Amino acid sequence: KNIVVLISGNGSNLQAILDACENSTIANAKVAAVLSNKADAYGLERARQANVDALHVSAANFSDRETFDKAMIEKIDAYQPDLIILAGFMRILSGDFVRHYQGKMINIHPSLLPKYPGLHTHQRALDAGDTEHGTSVHFVTEELDGGPVILQAKVPIFADDTVDNIFSRVQEQEHRIYPLVAHWFINERLAMIDGQASLDGNTL
Ligand code: GRF
Repeated sequence: KNIVVLISGNGSNLQAILDACENSTIANAKVAAVLSNKADAYGLERARQANVDALHVSAANFSDRETFDKAMIEKIDAYQPDLIILAGFMRILSGDFVRHYQGKMINIHPSLLPKYPGLHTHQRALDAGDTEHGTSVHFVTEELDGGPVILQAKVPIFADDTVDNIFSRVQEQEHRIYPLVAHWFINERLAMIDGQASLDGNTL
């Protein structure tokens, strides 16, 4: 089966997905293409290293969000994807785009959703004095960071923590849970049914 990954930056989660396809942690799948809205995203280099098509689609070439998203859809659908993975893709997607891939697009968000949708999640958790934080994989719906949660990983926050070490602690967990969720989806154990995530027939 085919996975298409959308990125804007470093692509460490992309790397985890690439490695997991390579060593069959994600069985029966390959990353068919990686698309970035940023030309200098290091994840594009990671894709090329793995012999995966690496496409830069610049929003500057399109007059509005709808035309950009339409161009993205055309490029993505050329790879006949079974699963779309957002891995640090830092653009808001239009309703048309989200509906087009409803039920087969997932995102990873660095907080314990529904806590802290949006940006600067580690700083916000630190400022709030939280002792527990984490990351969430969820189906993408039209509500930003609001789709049904599939899997979360928790990490502690210690008294002397900085945003940097919370970031590393969270990413370590992301690299573990994101391939696992992709494996479930690709192997038809996971679906979005009536707006809820369902694993092996059980609502999550
Ligand atoms: C991840 O921490 C993810 O939670 C957020 O963006 C970050 C992407 O990191 N959505 P990377 O590009 O995969 O290293």
